[in-house]
Amino acid sequence: MRIDVLTLFPELIDRVCGESIIGRARKAGVLTVEAHNIRDYSDDRRRRVDDTPYGGGMGMLMAAPPVCACYDSVLKLADLPKTKTIYLSPKGRVLTQRYASYLASQDRLILLCGHYEGIDERILEETGAEEISIGDYVLTGGELAACVLIDCVGRLVDGVLSSEECHEIESIAAGMLEYPQYTRPEVFRGRAVPRVLLEGNHEEVRKWRYAEAVKQTKKKRPDLF
Ligand SMILES: C[S@@+](CC[C@H](N)C(=O)[O-])C[C@H]1O[C@@H](n2cnc3c(N)ncnc32)[C@H](O)[C@@H]1O
Repeated sequence: MRIDVLTLFPELIDRVCGESIIGRARKAGVLTVEAHNIRDYSDDRRRRVDDTPYGGGMGMLMAAPPVCACYDSVLKLADLPKTKTIYLSPKGRVLTQRYASYLASQDRLILLCGHYEGIDERILEETGAEEISIGDYVLTGGELAACVLIDCVGRLVDGVLSSEECHEIESIAAGMLEYPQYTRPEVFRGRAVPRVLLEGNHEEVRKWRYAEAVKQTKKKRPDLF
């Protein structure tokens, strides 16, 4: 999968997406993430990309000309059949695991990060971007939201996770929260690992895990049932 990010802070995207599993997938060529600086497309002498809103009001808006020029240029970098453009926005549909799976089936995502008070509405019309929010709260910019989306979608792309890092039985993906997990030592500060996990009976382990997953979900996220 190829992901292009249109941003005022390309270093932030590169830094966050250069680490850990996503960084490894990029190095292996399984996932391409390229950040593009919208300021490079500004005609302004001081590389400004924002302006005051018509009708008055607080703050500044990202203007259509540099953002759309950046978009047009980035779009030409690849010609992949399933390409989707997304504007990270608190007004958007909230990202879920299910929607992340759908996004992972695309060939290419183009992510637009807003800043200031947001963007000129005509950018959405020009690019056909879908608005996606990472939660019902407001961030200062779309970059962290883009990194969240890249992380959660990227790990679902074939070849990104190794078999030990399999995502199929995780919290939410399975429709329930994950069961509790333990590793060595067997007893830590007087707290022992549940016996059933030490006895080697796979069927009993499976039943215990299922019962614990139900218990955790009822307690912490009853809305998932
Ligand atoms: C301060 S916000 C602008 C908020 C805008 N004035 C509004 O009320 O909808 C600046 C940028 O941060 C990003 N952003 C803020 N909250 C977000 C969220 N929950 N999910 C995704 N992106 C968000 C968007 O790209 C937005 O353009």
